[in-house]
Amino acid sequence: MAGIWLIGAYGAVSTTTMTGIAAIKTGAAPRVQVGMVTEAPECDPIRSKFPLEEIAVGGHEVRFLDRNAYQASEKIWEENVHFQRSYLDKGKNELSKIKAKKGTAINCGPGVDALGELDTLEGEGLTLSEIISRIMKDYESFKNKNGEVCVINAASTEPHIPLTEAHQSLDTFEGLIDENQTEMVTASMLYAYAAFKQKIPYGNFTPSHGATVPAIRELAVKQKMPYMGDDGKTGETLMKTTLAPMFKMRNLKILGWAGFNILGDDDGVTLSKDANKASKIESKDKAISSSIGYSPFSITEIKYFPPLVDHKVAWDYISYRGFLGTKMALQFTWHGIDSILAAPIAIDIARSLMFAKSRGEFGAIHELAFFFKHPIDDIIGNTFIQYELYNNWINEGRTVELKKMQAKIVK
Ligand SMILES: NC(=O)c1ccc[n+]([C@@H]2O[C@H](COP(=O)([O-])OP(=O)(O)OC[C@H]3O[C@@H](n4cnc5c(N)ncnc54)[C@H](O)[C@@H]3O)[C@@H](O)[C@H]2O)c1
Repeated sequence: MAGIWLIGAYGAVSTTTMTGIAAIKTGAAPRVQVGMVTEAPECDPIRSKFPLEEIAVGGHEVRFLDRNAYQASEKIWEENVHFQRSYLDKGKNELSKIKAKKGTAINCGPGVDALGELDTLEGEGLTLSEIISRIMKDYESFKNKNGEVCVINAASTEPHIPLTEAHQSLDTFEGLIDENQTEMVTASMLYAYAAFKQKIPYGNFTPSHGATVPAIRELAVKQKMPYMGDDGKTGETLMKTTLAPMFKMRNLKILGWAGFNILGDDDGVTLSKDANKASKIESKDKAISSSIGYSPFSITEIKYFPPLVDHKVAWDYISYRGFLGTKMALQFTWHGIDSILAAPIAIDIARSLMFAKSRGEFGAIHELAFFFKHPIDDIIGNTFIQYELYNNWINEGRTVELKKMQAKIVK
């Protein structure tokens, strides 16, 4: 038995994750799924340890708390029609039993406010310590029912707040919490902190702060919990970090890379606000330089385009120089359905982190960089190297080099 706890439980990524698992459990969808890395034969140690039909799902939300997961999933499905309706119908019993718990939206910025009326723990007048206790209780009862569990942050992207001295050590961070300094923390920090307190691994599917704050990383190591982030690599950035190494291998010089993304769902609403969008652009931008080792001129733009709903279109123009200094260009258009690409990767991350925990591994699991746009510590952007690292890790455990690097980062 195992479980995935989704922050942002009624969003597009989370409801697609929940519906997918329910459809597989009920036999409506085929047991063997494409699009999910951990279902490939190379990942057998992971998939056999955490079979999809034994994974329970739950989560936190700040909207629509009167709904159950079936109602929430149906709403997203009606807007997108992104898979066969029968998966939802056959999973109805399973999904109707899942109800999101009330979460926190502290300092989630104008992008989250724009989603409509929020129902939050701080709205009940709770202090930071009380909010953390409530979140920990929710995690605890999920863990007691389901054994090994993992928290995945799939909530709307938050703006980054400045990190101060007080964020650098666990001691001073806990001081902020005790003094209820609400302006110094964001929701994703509280969810990550509470996960480690409950000895639960944490994966950050978003570019929000989450477990990247030094004080929270210190707690993860103290509690011997694995974590990884940031921001699921599913679409345009996957293309960037796969194509950019090709230019490097052929010694073609990339002069500039312009990427224009349009998307239309709630993620698009959130990212249409500058403060929330800045976190996402930072994580997309770093992908090229971390793949090729230098930073060409770059434009990354994200615009809200409602008719697309959960579909995403990206147009990328790459200017490069070859033999005799001649300039050439490559253009591509990416068309994906965000949550169909993202949901299986969220499951991959959760399964991999639970696997890491089962082997006693803790701290940032850099070998999972393959799944992220902006892997923690800027580890490696190149998709091919990431894939090799991931596969070696599954079969051989942590490599000496990465262990050394981790020791340096932790202390
Ligand atoms: N391919 C992808 O879809 C993809 C790829 C990488 C990253 N992401 C990131 O994953 C996240 C989810 O994407 P989505 O398309 O499902 O977005 P979405 O807007 O459909 O869903 C986000 C959900 O989070 C909820 N929420 C917001 N703040 C919360 C909080 N503090 N606590 C609990 N719930 C909260 C919202 O109410 C909403 O239901 C976004 O941050 C997105 O940038 C998505």
